[in-house]
Amino acid sequence: VCGWVHRRRDHGGVIFIDLRDREGLLQVVFDPDRPEIFADAERIRSEYVLKVKGLDRPRPEGTINTKLRTGKVEVLAHELETLNKSETPPFHHDEQANEDIRLKYRYLDLRRDEMLGNLMLRHRVTKAMRDFLDDHGFVDVETPMLTKATPEGARDYIVPSRTNPGKFFALPQSPQIFKQLLMMSGLDRYYQIVRCFRDEDLRADRQPEFTQLDIEMSFIDESDITNTMEDLVRFVFKQTLDVNLPDPFPRMTDAEAMQRYGSDKPDLRIDLELIEVGDLMADVDFKVFAGPAADPEGRVAALCVPGGAEMSRKIIDDYTKYVGRYGARGLAYIKVNDIDAGMEGLQAPILKFLSEDVVSAILERTGAKSGDLIFFGADKARIVNDAIGALRIKVAEDRGMVAEGWAPLWVIDFPMFEKDSKTRRWTSLHHPFTSPSISDADALRADPGKALSRAYDIVLNGAEIGGGSIRIHDQDIQSVVFDLLDISKEEAEKKFGFLLEALQYGCPPHGGIAFGLDRIVMLMAGAQSIRDVIAFPKTQTASCLLTNAPSEVSAEQLKETGIRLRTPRAE
Ligand code: AMO
Ligand code: AMP
Repeated sequence: VCGWVHRRRDHGGVIFIDLRDREGLLQVVFDPDRPEIFADAERIRSEYVLKVKGLDRPRPEGTINTKLRTGKVEVLAHELETLNKSETPPFHHDEQANEDIRLKYRYLDLRRDEMLGNLMLRHRVTKAMRDFLDDHGFVDVETPMLTKATPEGARDYIVPSRTNPGKFFALPQSPQIFKQLLMMSGLDRYYQIVRCFRDEDLRADRQPEFTQLDIEMSFIDESDITNTMEDLVRFVFKQTLDVNLPDPFPRMTDAEAMQRYGSDKPDLRIDLELIEVGDLMADVDFKVFAGPAADPEGRVAALCVPGGAEMSRKIIDDYTKYVGRYGARGLAYIKVNDIDAGMEGLQAPILKFLSEDVVSAILERTGAKSGDLIFFGADKARIVNDAIGALRIKVAEDRGMVAEGWAPLWVIDFPMFEKDSKTRRWTSLHHPFTSPSISDADALRADPGKALSRAYDIVLNGAEIGGGSIRIHDQDIQSVVFDLLDISKEEAEKKFGFLLEALQYGCPPHGGIAFGLDRIVMLMAGAQSIRDVIAFPKTQTASCLLTNAPSEVSAEQLKETGIRLRTPRAE
């Protein structure tokens, strides 16, 4: 057997070594009867690499370790070769090392069970994806990494060209345009497990380079693709975790998701909903509520927390601060101490502003019971959705109200365009190749705000794990969409001219989706961050602590690529 020394124990003349490889631990015993190797065994330290030959035998009665897969056996060493020594590692397997240290010594971090398990799981997930897709006629095609900007809404990573000084490649934010071109080539069903690059603000579920399972199909509509993709996700969960996901996945419109959960990626494991109370507040003598209730862009929503009346002042203050991060200017509440005692049974600073009729209507609509607490958000709908939507999750996590298990769903019928609140211009919710629900170019131009997009997002346990759409395959509609998005003819020509041209040579109706592989594996592994399921991830500031990338390049390299730094560095 070969492996690393996980632990060495001296037991009154006998030395035990737990030898580790990727499959787990095996106990090796060194007996003083073999003095030639016993002396070597005494010098062995953690993380030495050993090759041991010996006799494998059942462990003696009473020494069986039922927690270990190999706990019934051990190897009595006859020969020992130290293949390599190791310095004392900067952190031990069992300790909770700080993430910076783990990233700097990532190869050591990956020796830990948990991390190795995550990589193994990731492998099984991609294997299952490939098996499924191969069975369903999908062809794996690679697309360029050195390419032109692709419009997914983030900043591009750019690469200077030596052979064309002053010009730059962009790394793909996704293979979006290429996969559409492959449909125009007649490939019919494409997939790729592919790296994408986005220079954006990083969070626990975002990396500057991440992996998509990218898919495109021709001659299909929304239900063909969502049904096939559901089958894929069910297959992957069954194969890798032996979990049976629901069949079919629920489908919910974006409007309903916002209404009920304040989010376009609701976590359906949480049995709490936002309840509309704006209509009850129109005439109340409390500006905080009456204002948004009268504003067409406003919203007043309630969130009833079962058992929440026990919350202390401090807890409520903390939640008020929490919703403040989402722009909420306060967090009104009513404690329902005794529902049968009328106004007397309630406790809230805002009660004095509300009539008994309004209060009883709120209680009835929220279904509040004795012991509950009702929170209120009142503001522009966007702020209320963000704030109370996030509060819903936070309260559920804090109070143990998140059910076990898996809650997948499709969110559909997104608006095609949104008005930017500052510029008042139309922006697209998805990329500009997404087909609108209105297929008539004039009708679309006349009332863009009315159009829905033919896009769909797949959500799992409150995380957006994938998204896609039916694409525009008609040049006229594509031009109108570019127009509405204020992309001029020249700009469209410059950026996507090749795609517009391709649309003229027999483009089949087509659509697709991309899954965030890292996010899926993170959820399956029960990890807190996608960094834990990526072998060599980047930090929050998009750098690599192991290699120290990004780093300076030589003056020669700068010269070759025709680049002069604005702030020359001290050499
Ligand atoms: P979209 O931009 O929605 O769609 O990306 C698809 C999925 O990729 C994941 N994802 C990320 N994961 C980790 N780090 C990131 N920075 C990151 N950004 C996105 C998400 C997301 O749902 N071309 C379209 C797909 C299509 O229309 O077919 C696209 O890229 O899980
Ligand atoms: P005030 O009149 O500002 O003292 O607010 C009275 C109560 O309403 C407090 O509990 C505030 O937290 C709450 N409140 C203030 N603004 C809002 C808002 N926009 N949405 C919800 N509650 C609010």
